[in-house]
Amino acid sequence: MTAEPAEVVAPSAPPLLDPTVGALRPSLLRLPGCYPVQADTWLLADAMCGLGLAAGARVLDVCTGTGALAVVAALAGAAEVTAVDLSLRSAAATRVNARRHGASVRVLRGDLFAPLDEGETFDLIVSNPPYVPSRSADLPRHTLGRCWDAGFDGRMLVDRICAQAHDRLAPGGSLLLVHSTVTDEVRTMAKLQDSGLEVDVVSRQTEPFGPVMRSRAEHLRSRGLIASDQSEEGLVVLRATRPIGSTQPVTGADS
Ligand SMILES: C[S@@+](CC[C@H](N)C(=O)[O-])C[C@H]1O[C@@H](n2cnc3c(N)ncnc32)[C@H](O)[C@@H]1O
Repeated sequence: MTAEPAEVVAPSAPPLLDPTVGALRPSLLRLPGCYPVQADTWLLADAMCGLGLAAGARVLDVCTGTGALAVVAALAGAAEVTAVDLSLRSAAATRVNARRHGASVRVLRGDLFAPLDEGETFDLIVSNPPYVPSRSADLPRHTLGRCWDAGFDGRMLVDRICAQAHDRLAPGGSLLLVHSTVTDEVRTMAKLQDSGLEVDVVSRQTEPFGPVMRSRAEHLRSRGLIASDQSEEGLVVLRATRPIGSTQPVTGADS
């Protein structure tokens, strides 16, 4: 990887609060190799704030990147925040960003839920995982591609989150998960429902293809994953809630 300088991503909105929509927009240090916060990040952050789910909650941000969602959760009044990412640089950036905003965030490095304590549960799990269909079934290990590549159908991480979220949610707790409609929201909803969660769509937004989608549009077209003239994708935020009183997932979790 070429050495990119660290950069501070200052969104167009004011540093901590956009009073016009009540959304939290913390400025973030981004280390080379970390995901640059973008529309999917803020769509999920706005859903979390708009639904008032973070206040007083034990929050987990899985696939945290720069820590944007973890910091927003802390600023929105979460009781405890944990952030997990596979990437060393993302974990480092999250620690720095939390400190810059005076946010208390426990940062763990590892694969999805693996670094958590056994039996540890949360009132709110937020995730903006890699979800872009790629040419290979192998996930990149050390490149920026690890932030978005998610296997042939874009579901390698999403399916694992769907399978494991139920057991990581406290009764009454919710998962907020964002991904592209190219990744197949109907399948995601079915998987979450099969695991015993109650699912609804809480937010949608249409975005023009960014550089990653543009660079693989031809490939996605050839596989019928997008229409021949498609140049936009839908982003969708799903909420999956563990019913109070539910004990066991309906189907078994994967590893
Ligand atoms: C799309 S980025 C999202 C970053 C951030 N949540 C945001 O919304 O700006 C996905 C992140 O998932 C991380 N990631 C990829 N595979 C992972 C895994 N198996 N476990 C944990 N994190 C992973 C990547 O390093 C990257 O930071």
